[in-house]
Amino acid sequence: MKVVQVGIGGMGNAWLRAVQASPEVEYSGFVEVNQTIAQQQAEKYGLDPARIFPSLAEALNAVPVDGIINVTPPQFHREVSILALEASVPVLSEKPLADTLGAAQDIVDAANRTGVLHMVTQNYRYSIPALTLKRTLETADLGRIGAVTVEFFRGPHFGGFREEMPYPLIIDMSIHHFDMMRYFLALDPIWIYGRSWNPPWSWYNGDASASVLLRFEGDVTVSYNGSWCSQGMDTPWNGQWRFECERGVIALRDDQVTVYRTGEAPEPVEPVATERVAQSYLLHEFYEAVTMGKPPATTCQDNIKSLAIVFNTVQSFETGAPVAVAAVAA
Ligand SMILES: NC(=O)c1ccc[n+]([C@@H]2O[C@H](COP(=O)([O-])OP(=O)(O)OC[C@H]3O[C@@H](n4cnc5c(N)ncnc54)[C@H](O)[C@@H]3O)[C@@H](O)[C@H]2O)c1
Repeated sequence: MKVVQVGIGGMGNAWLRAVQASPEVEYSGFVEVNQTIAQQQAEKYGLDPARIFPSLAEALNAVPVDGIINVTPPQFHREVSILALEASVPVLSEKPLADTLGAAQDIVDAANRTGVLHMVTQNYRYSIPALTLKRTLETADLGRIGAVTVEFFRGPHFGGFREEMPYPLIIDMSIHHFDMMRYFLALDPIWIYGRSWNPPWSWYNGDASASVLLRFEGDVTVSYNGSWCSQGMDTPWNGQWRFECERGVIALRDDQVTVYRTGEAPEPVEPVATERVAQSYLLHEFYEAVTMGKPPATTCQDNIKSLAIVFNTVQSFETGAPVAVAAVAA
């Protein structure tokens, strides 16, 4: 299967490594708007400079393509993804699906109108700790889940678009944690209340800290606390998770899953054994979807429900009121 990767700097590196290691997918071309990055990456990864195009339209005219990988910053996702969908080319897009809910809805509408696959790379679902936690939630037999606590605290200095955008923690990072909530619980939220703020030492223009309370279907309450300008005691990127269940607790702490049955000694859980994780898992899913028609989990039609959590949270920040989660037209 031949793919064109749009955006080869930054996160594009992870995709360059994943595709170059794949026995199923190969590159027919690339799109990069920054000539310096194009030249550097061509040298670093041994890419043919003649196959690096300045626009997706030019690449689609010049090389055979069975799918694109969209690794541009979020504000370009709508333009790039819809151009591919309208040309009947399936899309594997970096998260977030788009930079606004309206842009995300336009992508979903284009995917529905054309009948072409668009899936989002929610790679956090497919790390070993997340896969282990998911399997434990399905098999530990601790009864109903009543509440979940999630903590995420780190202080990365990225530079670039994250330091300029509004609500960088919630829009660029927490989308992974919100999507994981839907994945772990297999439920959707019905009500959200949140408050965001920017600590005095923050190096972001937008609010880098937040506290969000989410009520999911089945009366499961999730409390989420996070910051992207924390000054110590980092949590892992996955965050720290605690599931309060009828007959005990299931926790993900420092990427280790542990089951605490009421009154019994803690049981550390063996990590799952899996052939592929993260980008290679998603690339394989994309390959199977395109070549065999196997439906992937994180289609844009499903993923807009994770993105809606992000923008309903922002609405609550801005109105100071709880938000009933709007049904999105998937
Ligand atoms: N899944 C993850 O864990 C993860 C991690 C980091 C970033 N991301 C996502 O990846 C995407 C890219 O983020 P990044 O950190 O790599 O950004 P970046 O700005 O570092 O890199 C983006 C690249 O795309 C290029 N580009 C921009 N507009 C383009 C266009 N219209 N056509 C072709 N190339 C274009 C830029 O020149 C640059 O090389 C974002 O959606 C981000 O949220 C995901």
